[in-house]
Formats: sequence, C-alpha cells, structure tokens
Amino acid sequence: MSAFASLFGKETLIGLDIGSAYMKAVQVEPSKGRVKVARAAQHKTPADAVRDGIVVDKAAVGDALRQMLKTAGISATGAVTAVSGPTVTVRHIKLPKMPEAALKKSARYEASKYLSANVEDSAIEFDILGPCPDAEDQMNVMLVAAPREMVESRVAAVEMAGLEAVGVDVESFALQRALVDCNVGAFSDGGMRALVDMGAAHTEVTILNGTAFALTRSIPIAGDSFTNVFKSQLRCSAEEAEQHKAAADLLLLLDGSGTAEELEGARLLQPMLDELLREIRRSIHYYQSQLPEGSERAALQEIILSGGTAQMRGIPEYMKARLGTEVVRGNAFSNPFFETHAESAGFLQEQHPRLMIGLGLAAKDALPATAAPAPAAVAVAAPVLA
Ligand SMILES: Nc1ncnc2c1ncn2[C@@H]1O[C@H](COP(=O)(O)OP(=O)(O)OP(=O)(O)O)[C@@H](O)[C@H]1O
Ligand SMILES: [Mg+2]
Repeated sequence: MSAFASLFGKETLIGLDIGSAYMKAVQVEPSKGRVKVARAAQHKTPADAVRDGIVVDKAAVGDALRQMLKTAGISATGAVTAVSGPTVTVRHIKLPKMPEAALKKSARYEASKYLSANVEDSAIEFDILGPCPDAEDQMNVMLVAAPREMVESRVAAVEMAGLEAVGVDVESFALQRALVDCNVGAFSDGGMRALVDMGAAHTEVTILNGTAFALTRSIPIAGDSFTNVFKSQLRCSAEEAEQHKAAADLLLLLDGSGTAEELEGARLLQPMLDELLREIRRSIHYYQSQLPEGSERAALQEIILSGGTAQMRGIPEYMKARLGTEVVRGNAFSNPFFETHAESAGFLQEQHPRLMIGLGLAAKDALPATAAPAPAAVAVAAPVLA
C-alpha cells in the first residue's frame, strides 16, 4: 500500500491477469456478504511483450496496463497478478513435521529435492496444509515455485503501470477461487472435476478432488496453435486467421450440417483440437492412476472451461462428444454470490470465460469467512520468497 493510500485507508486492489494475448483486469468490492464486481476490462497485450510467461517488454506492458485502466475508469492503488505455465510447479509433498519458521529457513533445501530448476533462480512458497494422517511424524505441504524472472517481471510491469504489486498468485488457484470456492454448494458431491483454462499460448488443466486442489498441468496447445493452423493452411495474415477461427463452428463436426465452406474451418481445426483433447485426457488419466484402486472419486464429473479459446463456437459440445463427460463454460458471474451492475452485465456475460482468472485474483481478499480458503499465493513481500 502506498503511504498516501494507507494514510487515508483507501487501498483499492484489482486482479490483473497478464496473458500473452490479452490483459484482463477485474475490480471487486465486498457487498453485504457478497462480492460486487465493480469494473472489468481487457486489452490486447503488446505484441511479443510476454513470452513463456515472462514479461519481456515491461515498459510496453506497463503503458498498456495504465491505458487499459484509464479507459475503463478503474482507479486502483495495487494489483494481485499471477503466474502459470510449464515452468510453474505446484505440488503436494510430505515433509517431516516442523514449525513454519523452520520450514522457511530450510525452504530452498527442501524445494531443491522437487524442482528441476535451480532454486536460486526460483521464487518458492510453502503452505502447511496439516498433519499427514498415514504418518505421524510427517505433514502435508503445498509447494509452489516459479522462475524468479517470471515473478519479478510481472511485479515490474505492474509497478510500471503505477500500481503496487500486492501479490503474485497462481492462475489455477485464482480460477478455483472464482469458480469453486465462491460456489462450494455446487460441488458438494465431492466428485472429481477438471478446470481447463484455454488461453493463447497454453492450456492449463487443474484437477480438483471435490473442492480441493489436486494437480495442475500445462499443455502447449491453445489459441495460437489454432490461429497458426489457419495461417499456414490458408496462407493468410494473423488477423484473417483470427477471423476464420472465430467463425469456425465445431458443432458442424458433430452433426455434419452446414455447407462445404462452413465445414472447412471446423475441419481444419479438428486435428489440432483432437491432439489437445488427447493431452487433456492424459492429464485426467494420470490423476486417476494415482488414486487407490476402486476409489469412488475416480469418476470425472465435469470439465469446466475458461480462457478466450473456450469462446470457440461449439467447443463444449465437441469436447463432451469426444471425451464422454459433461463440459461447460464456467461462469462465476451467474453465481448470485457475485453482484454485477446492470450496465456491465452484458460485457461480463459475453466475455466471462476470459475474466475468470482476473476475478479470482480480485476476490482474494474479498471472500467471506464462509468460503473455503484457496491455497496460499506466492506473496511478493513474504520473506519465504527465496
Ligand atoms: N470467439 C473466439 N473464438 C475463438 N477463439 C477466441 C475467441 N475469442 C478469443 N479467442 C482466442 O482466445 C485467446 C486469448 O484468450 P486469453 O485472453 O484467455 O489468453 P491469454 O490469457 O492472453 O493467453 P495465455 O494465458 O496462454 O498467455 C486468443 O488465442 C484468441 O484468439
Ligand atoms: Mg491466460
């Protein structure tokens, strides 16, 4: 919090999802036990400014963020942002029982047993979840690690936009917060679900065991892969390829309807999409293979989609037909827990798949005590950050 803001108690935070294709901002306010979505905005990320999750052009992203907030009328003092992708590690581990202070001291040593990356180059956070039921002297711990450069570049971009970087979370946790923790009643069957965030550079699969985080995996097939199919097959510009992609209707692949021209777009997408679905299925099978034999929780209840690529026409229906499981677009804005303004309701409903991570980041401090806490974030200022 800036000195000025803290003096007058006017700290206002936003959730900032800095994607490789789009930046999304969401501002919320607590409202009588619920959460009011005050404002939301999105803007194209400057070209090539975010690569492999790292903000490589911090000044360009900082400027664009500032512009986006100004245009949307969002005034804030700080932001919570997040990391994701194949270089981010989120793992349940078991450690000998020790107090939190001792764990902080040995964080790098303990983390080095689980990370392939150099711990010196990683931001590391541990969250003690509780005692381990099957081993008295052990405790269950969530390990979160991300390349230091990824975390620091996001903090720098936020600061260049004139905001304080209040925390760096994990995108999967933010999604879980928006879609599950704020709506626990809908998940009371305790079944297994997959949150699948389909962005531009990658698709992140997060498996939930009831309302509990189980694992996350990043797949390098997403919106850019589909745009590139059109670019190479039709030899067209990126802009034209985006238009072809948005026009393609995957439903036509299921019922065979449509003219040859209409079918062409969906057919061009199909092999890449099927490859992505194979990878999603593999992630689910991997998790199922870790469960005890005959486990009641091994059946997948549902796949919940988010991210801009989840806006592809007919994608829930196509996935449902191919994977044989319920597939929906997750929309926290239809949960009465989130209150929306009449004037922004249209934008939020139309763009909801892209705004779920930003919403989960913004809701981090606004959740009432009744909502289940999501696992700890990689707190920027926390001393444990190695
Ligand atoms: N209506 C649509 N139909 C098909 N694709 C769409 C549609 N709207 C957006 N997209 C695609 O969604 C992607 C952007 O989604 P999103 O904002 O979730 O990505 P991102 O967060 O920037 O990416 P990443 O998280 O992978 O870095 C782009 O590839 C874009 O082409
Ligand atoms: Mg994204």
